[in-house]
Amino acid sequence: MIATLRAIGFDNRLGLRLVIASLIVGSVLSVLSTSAQLGASYFRQRTDATLVLSRIEDTLASPLEQAVWTFNFDQVDVILDGLAADPNIAFVELQSSTGQSWTRGDPDEQAATPDDQRVYELVHKLDNNRSELVGVLDVRLSLDAVRARVWAEFWTTFLTNLAKAYIAAIALLFLVGHMVSRHLRKIADHVDNTNADNTNALRLDRAGSEKTDDLDRIVDAIDRFECRTREQMDALGNEIIDRKQAEAEARQALSIRSQFLATMSHEIRTPLNAIMGFLHLIATYKDIDDKPRVYAETATKASHQLMSLMNNSLDMSRIEADAVEIKMTPTDIHSLAKDWHQSAEGMRHMRDKNIKITLDVARDLPPLINMDASHVTQIVSNLVDNAIKFTDAGEVDIAIKNATSDGNPAIDIRVSDTGNGIPEDARARIFERFTQADSGMLRAHGGSGLGLAICSELARLMGATLTLDDRIRDGFTTVFLLRLENVALVDLPT
Ligand SMILES: Nc1ncnc2c1ncn2[C@@H]1O[C@H](COP(=O)(O)OP(=O)(O)OP(=O)(O)O)[C@@H](O)[C@H]1O
Ligand SMILES: [Mg+2]
Repeated sequence: MIATLRAIGFDNRLGLRLVIASLIVGSVLSVLSTSAQLGASYFRQRTDATLVLSRIEDTLASPLEQAVWTFNFDQVDVILDGLAADPNIAFVELQSSTGQSWTRGDPDEQAATPDDQRVYELVHKLDNNRSELVGVLDVRLSLDAVRARVWAEFWTTFLTNLAKAYIAAIALLFLVGHMVSRHLRKIADHVDNTNADNTNALRLDRAGSEKTDDLDRIVDAIDRFECRTREQMDALGNEIIDRKQAEAEARQALSIRSQFLATMSHEIRTPLNAIMGFLHLIATYKDIDDKPRVYAETATKASHQLMSLMNNSLDMSRIEADAVEIKMTPTDIHSLAKDWHQSAEGMRHMRDKNIKITLDVARDLPPLINMDASHVTQIVSNLVDNAIKFTDAGEVDIAIKNATSDGNPAIDIRVSDTGNGIPEDARARIFERFTQADSGMLRAHGGSGLGLAICSELARLMGATLTLDDRIRDGFTTVFLLRLENVALVDLPT
């Protein structure tokens, strides 16, 4: 049954919608045309019926008056019967002036509310130019029969038209299903199943005579589109292969470069350590004059800068070569913070700065925190080094806070200073490699501009974030914030 319905297109939604639409339009048009047709027919029949009334005056009034005048009552009956035979005449009444009365029809039924009514006075002309009223004829017209006929005609015509519309709709449904929908379904299936492996061209199952219409244009367009897409995909595939190859080559080149840099840095650092050691010995040698001592001290400073540059280059190449290993271990943050403070004092001394270094560790921090202590220390000492380097008076503060929120364990490490600050336009780019806020700094302080880039890369590798904090507080001009997220805060076993 379902298969049969399918075969004639009953599962064809497009066809069904067309059919419903055509049925609605067909029914409305049928009602309108039938109404117009039958309205005209009704008015015609009404005019004809009214015409009968008008003709009574000319045709029947005189014979009837003669029959009444001559008391030929049989003739009166014949005339009135003839009149009442008209289906639209509902009631006829004749009252003679001598008191006789004739009626035809029922005055209480249709004639009570006639569609038209005429009253004729039957007058007999006497010889001496006088006339005498012989009777009054009352004729009432009812169009109920006309209306009933028109209604019956309306329904017959309407239902016939409707039946024709239904038959046409079912034929349409079948034709749409056969000529359009099944091809559309095939097109949809083809587009659904098209992929790199399925390269069959789309072909519709159609008779030759049906060809070269809109469906064929769609099929041709889809074929052309698939051809173009296949060509583009091939080109894209080749491009991806080329790019992957180029990427692999670039990676290899980068790795070779990083390896070379690492080896060179190591090879340079070894003799540099020896140079620094001997320069220190010369500078602190007691029997040396002031001038060579100053030379030795200057050379020591330069060698420290060179060492720092080497260290930074080595770190950067290790990051680029993905050789940085993150090791999370339970760490005593309180004692680590004290170490940071101590080494900050050492840096201050080295840079010969008369500034205060303060440490503020929140009391609510648990004793042990799971983190990569060595890389966090590297970041903090870079930040502290910068803070001391760029601050000539005032203080440098290291603050550690518990930033756990919504059950996510986190700690904030802030390094703040009261130095010159970082100009607004430079804040966005100081984390980039080889970038310094202002070129004058290079002359004044040295440095490679790699420190913060290394710090933010290390932070990223640890899943932490390093930002320049805009919320400046307590007279500090520069505040760096290192947020360590998802660090498990480990409580000591009780
Ligand atoms: N605390 C700070 N106060 C003012 N400026 C800062 C501060 N920290 C960083 N900067 C600015 O950001 C720039 C980049 O810092 P970064 O640590 O990357 O490089 P550097 O210190 O110049 O060189 P390197 O760290 O490689 O020796 C600095 O040159 C400086 O202009
Ligand atoms: Mg630095």
